[in-house]
Amino acid sequence: MTKRKTPEELRSHRWYGVNDLRSFGHRSRTAQMGYNRDEYAGKPVIAILNTWSEINACHTHFKQRVEEVKRGIWQAGGFPIELPVQTLSEPFQKPTTMLYRNFLAMEAEETLRSYPADGVVLMGGCDKTTPGLLMGAISMDLPAIFLPAGPMLRGNWNGVTLGSGSDSWKYWAELRAGKITQEDWQGIEGGIARSPGHCMTMGTASTMTSAAEALGFTLPGFASIPAADSRHAQMAAKTGMRIVEMVWEDLKPSDLITAGAVDNAVTTCLALSGSTNAIVHMIALARRAGVELTLDRYDEISRRTPVLANIRPTGAYLMEDFFYAGGLRAMLAELGDLIDRSQRTVNGHTLGENLEGARIFNDDVIRRRDKPLLPDSSLAVLRGNIAPNGAVIKPGAAEPHLLVHTGRAVVFSDYNDMAARIDDEALDIDESCVIVLQHAGPVGAPGMPEWGQLPIPRKLLQKGVRDMVRISDARMSGTSYGACVLHVAPESFVGGPFALVQSGDLIELDVPRRKLNVLVSDAELDRRKAAWVKPAPRFTRGYGALHQVHVMQADQGCDFDFLQRGGARPASVSASSYEDKPGEPEIH
Ligand code: FES
Repeated sequence: MTKRKTPEELRSHRWYGVNDLRSFGHRSRTAQMGYNRDEYAGKPVIAILNTWSEINACHTHFKQRVEEVKRGIWQAGGFPIELPVQTLSEPFQKPTTMLYRNFLAMEAEETLRSYPADGVVLMGGCDKTTPGLLMGAISMDLPAIFLPAGPMLRGNWNGVTLGSGSDSWKYWAELRAGKITQEDWQGIEGGIARSPGHCMTMGTASTMTSAAEALGFTLPGFASIPAADSRHAQMAAKTGMRIVEMVWEDLKPSDLITAGAVDNAVTTCLALSGSTNAIVHMIALARRAGVELTLDRYDEISRRTPVLANIRPTGAYLMEDFFYAGGLRAMLAELGDLIDRSQRTVNGHTLGENLEGARIFNDDVIRRRDKPLLPDSSLAVLRGNIAPNGAVIKPGAAEPHLLVHTGRAVVFSDYNDMAARIDDEALDIDESCVIVLQHAGPVGAPGMPEWGQLPIPRKLLQKGVRDMVRISDARMSGTSYGACVLHVAPESFVGGPFALVQSGDLIELDVPRRKLNVLVSDAELDRRKAAWVKPAPRFTRGYGALHQVHVMQADQGCDFDFLQRGGARPASVSASSYEDKPGEPEIH
């Protein structure tokens, strides 16, 4: 039988249970908040890291959900403490939430370290909140369970089903091409996001919450439940109940994240034809846990993994349909031997045990292995003389004829240059060209924004062109599509060879052979390298200055170098730090 903790072994005992001046202060201040001593004494203290705010549309229901989580914690004999953390609202935060993912990860870790938490419920869903919370929790390594926000309901406009992001891009292009009216566009605006929850296409949110479930961090089936469904509320209460038991069992992230669990999560992302952003996040998460996930490993798994989820932007349906078709459990069960079923999960069972009885109810939405949406390679890792450390493309989201293509580069030196010239009638460009955007990476943009679905010039849209080869060191929204090569590493701003590409160069893309090269001689590239001038730093103070010095490149997950496992960790602060005694043990 698994050894259970005693109340005296709880981390929070150092705050509340001992008889000294500091704990007198902790108890008297808890009394000030209206609690009787027997409401918390000897109970697991459960921190609830809540990313709710009035500017995060995807998390509007978290105000209610947190009450359901607390209900579960109380019923299981725990003591809940809600702690607000960075909200990372994808549609509103400039220049990009990615700039602040590591900020949330640090905040999550340090909040848990500095307060009397025995375990934690992580409430996230909108894109970067999931990896940010998980990264912090992995580094802190207290019992942790993830509560996914759940996707919103299908969008609707005049009887047409709308998907987050994907249909914004699609109808924006139609508007620019003169195919729909301003009135149509306003109708789409009103109907594309019509309930609480995160984007319901297979964007970064749905990809990462599904990855969290495959990693073992959520109760089984939770990641697929729409936010507005009453089963989502029920699952929130169950999550609160379960974390209390996890504390007694001392079931921690380090017990869940193994190389096998990481492979399961990567396989999941690929079978969903998930967001390319997941690559960066999965590498960062895995490294926090001491698992070395490389781009090559990602490509290797991609080559063997069929796409089973028929969800936009690669497929036709939305997350609500996916849930009704059986959800993630059904898809993982269908993946069979591609999933390592022996991995542990937060409910104490193995992933395999959690998949027992899972069934597909609509095999057009969740395809059978013998009838996949794509047989393999939903994602490809490219290398070549402009991306020696890698770049990525989502072949299934591109027009097939562009996957082997050589074209003349039209280069924009940064986002403002592109915005100023892309629709210029005089721009020398046609559909065979390759659009290049530089200075859009982790340091240069800064924060590697989702600019990678570079716009097609208006004059080509009007001719009916809807896809072209586009290359950048930026990311792309998971809801985007097109022949977009992303995450070029090292980025141009720090002197990667991508900085040396000039308008007029020929660029060769060969996805089947995983190649991306500029057809310019080494001698010419050396000459350009010698003439390259390092740009001035973007920041001279504040968080931006910290970010630009410490952020790693896309192929390494864009974590801060000092936050990886094995890096220098801040010293723990003892519960009695204001009256430290020599030899006092650390609190975790
Ligand atoms: Fe929050 Fe898309 S805007 S998940």
